[in-house]
Amino acid sequence: MDEHRMHRCIERKRDGGELSADDWHGIIGAFMEGAVDESQIAALCMACVWRGMSVEETYAVTEAMVSSGATITFDPNRGTVVDKHSSGGVGDIVSLAAVPLAAACGAHVAKLAGRALGHTGGTIDKLEAIPGFNATLSIEQFTQQVERVGCAIAAQSDAIVPADKRIYRLRDRTATIPELGLLASSIVSKKIAGGAHAFVFDVKAGAAAFMQDPAKAHQLAARLLELVARFGRRAIAFVTDMSEPLGRSIGTGLEVIEARDLLRGAGEGRALELIVRIAEAMVEECGLTDAPARCARALADGTAYTKFIEMVRAQHGDCAALESMHPGNGLEIRANSSGYVQAMDVVRLGHTARRLCARDSMGGLRMTARIGDRVEKGQALAHAFGRSREEAAHLGQAFAIGPAAVEPAPLIYERSISAIK
Ligand code: URA
Repeated sequence: MDEHRMHRCIERKRDGGELSADDWHGIIGAFMEGAVDESQIAALCMACVWRGMSVEETYAVTEAMVSSGATITFDPNRGTVVDKHSSGGVGDIVSLAAVPLAAACGAHVAKLAGRALGHTGGTIDKLEAIPGFNATLSIEQFTQQVERVGCAIAAQSDAIVPADKRIYRLRDRTATIPELGLLASSIVSKKIAGGAHAFVFDVKAGAAAFMQDPAKAHQLAARLLELVARFGRRAIAFVTDMSEPLGRSIGTGLEVIEARDLLRGAGEGRALELIVRIAEAMVEECGLTDAPARCARALADGTAYTKFIEMVRAQHGDCAALESMHPGNGLEIRANSSGYVQAMDVVRLGHTARRLCARDSMGGLRMTARIGDRVEKGQALAHAFGRSREEAAHLGQAFAIGPAAVEPAPLIYERSISAIK
């Protein structure tokens, strides 16, 4: 791919045309070799955001990203290995808790995860709030840990899907995240390279999701299932609500604390319900029977928490520090009026929490109010933590409070299963 051909590809995409598989392989290959620079990829991503990408284009980009690095293989004769991925949420602690929960039920979980993107959090950043936690595993360390412990969560590296790693960061900086094909190729390339045989996707819909409308989220779920089937693997996709933070916490260390406490038996509400549904799907994908009973038992008898500790220890996390993680004093964010919480500016909450925890791993927000709650003027809606928590003082404006009672959105809009082609 020379400069002139790259220029023509950007023009074609800008004008609504479709690029061939050969074009996409050439572009990703040239980018990795340094023959195409970041400004050109950024322009191309923006053209994709405006013009969309066909299924064929998405598949070509996914293939090119997978082949930009090494791929991992798990021997299917030794049992099914499963992975789980979210399309990006706020206060989304599902991976932190569902991975060890499914592993405690007998599933083998090999998760390649990403970092924060836009206003959404990243599982790797969260785990790195645990002192010493190492998310940079070699392929051998990753596969051996999955065999030995039952689960591992690693960051994509320069060895595995390096093209996604670079393009992901670039999309974060250039506001080119929310395009179906870019999202799907980024997610599926990591999953295929990570070597699992089956996947569970959690596609978020709502104000804080990259796909706000459930119908668009459904399209993303369908694209993920289609891609995975083309690679000869199985998947289940959920479309779930993201019109408010899933859990009570938004932040790296704060979300680790919430997942830790949930696995110790203190979970509640929507976060617990979704974690259990997703862990059950992961267990089912591994061909294990009685997934609901297994998950309920693992939470009740503490084996899910023990598995979490085992995984953290295997990845050099300081388990004593994890057990005693605590956010310190919070700053109250108060309601500006009385009424019902009708909506939240979750994007603003997510960006604020991302800034607070960038400076301090215990920074972020803890929600007190949820959509549908009745609140009185001056009542705490949330608490802000971290060294720069004062910057969240005016966050009361992020809550729409009105006289009419509202029903929260359903937690799960749909669940669909792919058929291997
Ligand atoms: N998760 C990913 O891995 N990639 C995206 O683009 C969005 C969420």
